[in-house]
Amino acid sequence: MSELASRQVVETVPPAQVFPALPPGQSFQDLPSSDDEDEDDQQDDGSGPDADSEEDRRLQEMIDAIEPFSDQEVDDMIEYLKERGLFAFVKRYVQELDIPLPRLLLAFGVLIPPETTAENQVRILKITLSRVLRARNRRQDINTVDDVVDLIRKSKNIVLLTGAGVSTSCGIPDFRSPTGLYARLKEEHWELDDPQQMFDLSYFKEKPNVFYSFAKEIYPSNFVPSPCHRFAKMLEDHQCLLRNYTQNIDGLFESVGVERLLNCHGSFATASCLRCRTKFPGSAIEADVFASRVPLCPLCSAMDEEQAKLAPPVRQPPAKWSASGKGFEDDPEDERPPASEWEGKPLVKPDIVFFGEMLSDEFDRCLLHDREQVDLLIVIGTSLRVAPVSQLVSHLPHSVPQILINRDPVSHHNFDVVLLGDGDTIVKHLVHKLGSEWSLPVPRQLQDKPVQDSADATAVAMIEPERVAESHVWLYPGANRDHRWVQLVQEAFDEDSEVEDASSSGTTGAPTEDAVDQKHLEEAAPPALDVPVPASDGRPASRPRSLEQDSDNDVLGKKVKLDA
Ligand code: OAD
Repeated sequence: MSELASRQVVETVPPAQVFPALPPGQSFQDLPSSDDEDEDDQQDDGSGPDADSEEDRRLQEMIDAIEPFSDQEVDDMIEYLKERGLFAFVKRYVQELDIPLPRLLLAFGVLIPPETTAENQVRILKITLSRVLRARNRRQDINTVDDVVDLIRKSKNIVLLTGAGVSTSCGIPDFRSPTGLYARLKEEHWELDDPQQMFDLSYFKEKPNVFYSFAKEIYPSNFVPSPCHRFAKMLEDHQCLLRNYTQNIDGLFESVGVERLLNCHGSFATASCLRCRTKFPGSAIEADVFASRVPLCPLCSAMDEEQAKLAPPVRQPPAKWSASGKGFEDDPEDERPPASEWEGKPLVKPDIVFFGEMLSDEFDRCLLHDREQVDLLIVIGTSLRVAPVSQLVSHLPHSVPQILINRDPVSHHNFDVVLLGDGDTIVKHLVHKLGSEWSLPVPRQLQDKPVQDSADATAVAMIEPERVAESHVWLYPGANRDHRWVQLVQEAFDEDSEVEDASSSGTTGAPTEDAVDQKHLEEAAPPALDVPVPASDGRPASRPRSLEQDSDNDVLGKKVKLDA
């Protein structure tokens, strides 16, 4: 490794000067969430073959000026990044080993011109490392439902990542399903250009009345927790829940008694004044929510009234002499109507995280802590389309097993085992297979009705999930089996077995499972959430990309939708 510390040939900016430019503290919230298409390599600017070869020569000179790393060194770096995470990587390779950023970037296949500013170098490094992190390889030793059961049994620090899909059976719609909230908001007349504006901070500031006409529909009420909520509680009771990162704001995990809980997208438990930031208990705005009224901060409102009393009466501004010299004219500025009737008002908003807002620091703190402890990740009922929560799956050590339980595939990430179907049915099946020491705790709402669970038990015992070819994907009742990704897995594994047959007859080598996974990622990722992955093992593409062609959608620390 000492060789890694050796100085480079072209040193643009000493890293020690570069990294103070990183935001203070370690935040998972300002990492790029999605990149533009890598069209760059083949881009034709129409300037013809001579220009191309001139450009190639220029690029080659830039590459030659940088001392390369060996393949083994690059592999070690990638391994370190995927296992130890982005901040540990930066600490080691930039701060301790003092590797200049252009050299480090070239190791990841990114070539930057020498004149690139320090700030841009840091920005490009973050994008590059995030790209590598997004390319998680499946663990090939974990494939079956029994593997999942064994993992749950022996894991001590399980991270759950949950979303709206765990509450649909309680009667609360999710967001992005065809019957979800956004589809409904689209159909109804809510004056929204995009249904996600309902949870957009800028839109809220302009038209808080729209949100407050709707808020009662998502306000937590007396729903009965689902088996998925109870599954989280069961893990906690067995002392193997490290934390449940939930995106839900319905309060149902609290209602079933889960304590190791992080409400990543906040909750209605408190509300804050957007002007003075005073926090109020959620109960302070409950009446307004149910009356579809916009609550205003009582403290700021009292101050505004005081000031209005003290302020001198408003005088008409003097008319201006027209530029043409033909008399007085009105100043058009004076006629500007307020941008919105709510402009300047002390709006109170429930502390649910809107698009355009930061998540609480707790998210970063918990993730930094938990990535060192976690031994199993189970993701339930989320489309993983909203950053930064969606990035959690990339920021845990890549060797930690990852399981998905969802009705629809999440095709932009490689899980080790994918259990598709109705979440409640799947967790009940897993609990059944875990054996008699494990059972879903009965929530207080069901305590007088000693439960359908016993009736369910026989049905659950009968469930036989269907395996998609010889893959790691299993279909339970309720699975979206017509999803293109499922078909692609089927085809890929069918092809795989054909190739294997051929190879066993000595004609060719079988593709690795990684290659198959990569094919799925590339083919099945929805275009809106493009995942430009350099290669199946996260190694960079062989030809470096130059800076001018590289772009990013840095999320600047705010909650963003990936499918915007
Ligand atoms: P989405 O609606 O995006 O995704 C819900 C996922 O749950 C989908 O992939 C469904 O396939 C799955 N699902 C639905 N019902 C299910 C069931 N019974 N069993 C198993 N899976 C089921 O919801 P989230 O991913 O949670 O932000 O959305 C993330 C964020 O986007 C939300 O927190 C919300 C929204 O904007 C807010 O600020 C309120």
